[in-house]
Amino acid sequence: MKKLWKNCHIATMQDGQYSSIEDAGMVTLGQHIHWIGAFKDLPADVYSETIDLNGAWVTPGLIDCHTHSVFGGNRSVEFEKRLQGVSYAEIAASGGGIASTVRATREASEEQLLASALKRIRCLLKDGVTTIEIKSGYGLDYANERKMLRVIRQIADTLPMTVRSTCLAAHALPPEYKDQSDAYIEHICNEMLPKLHQEGLVDAVDAFCEYLAFSPAQVERLFKTAQSLNLPIKLHAEQLSSLGGSSLAARYQALSADHLEFMTEDDVKAMAAAGTVAVLLPGAFYFLRETQSPPLESLHQHGVRIALSSDLNPGTSPALSLRLMMNMGSTLFRLTPEQTLAGVTTHAAHALGLQDTHGTLEVGKVADFIAWEIEHPSEIVYWLGGDLPKRIIQHGQEISI
Ligand code: NIG
Ligand code: FE
Repeated sequence: MKKLWKNCHIATMQDGQYSSIEDAGMVTLGQHIHWIGAFKDLPADVYSETIDLNGAWVTPGLIDCHTHSVFGGNRSVEFEKRLQGVSYAEIAASGGGIASTVRATREASEEQLLASALKRIRCLLKDGVTTIEIKSGYGLDYANERKMLRVIRQIADTLPMTVRSTCLAAHALPPEYKDQSDAYIEHICNEMLPKLHQEGLVDAVDAFCEYLAFSPAQVERLFKTAQSLNLPIKLHAEQLSSLGGSSLAARYQALSADHLEFMTEDDVKAMAAAGTVAVLLPGAFYFLRETQSPPLESLHQHGVRIALSSDLNPGTSPALSLRLMMNMGSTLFRLTPEQTLAGVTTHAAHALGLQDTHGTLEVGKVADFIAWEIEHPSEIVYWLGGDLPKRIIQHGQEISI
């Protein structure tokens, strides 16, 4: 089934730039891109269908490479408290924060978790997201981490999206292991992770390396296990303090280190040398009213790939629009719209290890693309939220939204 998509302009996002082709056309064959270029160069051929895109700008489908979009309850009451002056760390220390979402997630059934997550993820899909990473990390025991990861697999079966699952069992200390964080890490390494992996539920491993979560030594123990299971690594690092988690992640060839507000120049150099992607999360930065930005200048200078993501989670980034996060990435972190768009396409694909199939529009890659009714690609980043008119094509099929 060769389909011709005509009457469009294309931002292929190759080399992290718009790499635009004006007056373009694209041919898809099944789920893949078969030909792409200036329409005048289209080779003579026969097509089963010709689709007129009415002058739209086509970009790769957006990739949200860091979300915690499966969870029970929400934390709006805590949001209210924080605005009355209580800090995120204080709330966490008094049994709120991640622990309260763990309680709500443990109480919820798979069906309930699936139903609530689908509502949120449909918002992202309608916003142009065709690939999403989703982390566990609100179960914190075998049965409940398994429940979350099974829900993530069900999301992949339900929505027309590519879904990657990340095991974040090392997100916080569960109540059963109070004051025994080493023992909990051993439990993850010896029991939980190998079993969950064996059940085919895990695509990558993540941890929260922070003074209020796990130490670099504990994270390293987990990385060794992930490596022995051949699982790719990601890390929440340098969000609230500087512990060198991002250097550690780089030493273990992590796909990405995420947050990074407090990273040092040495961390940047280590990530550059390892090709580890910096995933910036402007939603969490904004929602926690952080004041220290990630070191953008140094990241650019050392040539680190910069991805951007929603970090959709109930505590620090209840973000239902990746485009809004893109605008915030540009405004708060001074990324140009072009860099921002690269951050949710080609660089986000690298952050998930999907760079051979996703993230740019090139012959042989999957035909995931958005046809936006806009005058220039910078508009995708310019508008603050709302519903930008678009057509969404996933694996060569237009999906109804
Ligand atoms: O990415 N930093 C740790 N994890 C989440 C927050 C999770 C929560 O507060 O529920 C984050 O910001
Ligand atoms: Fe996160």
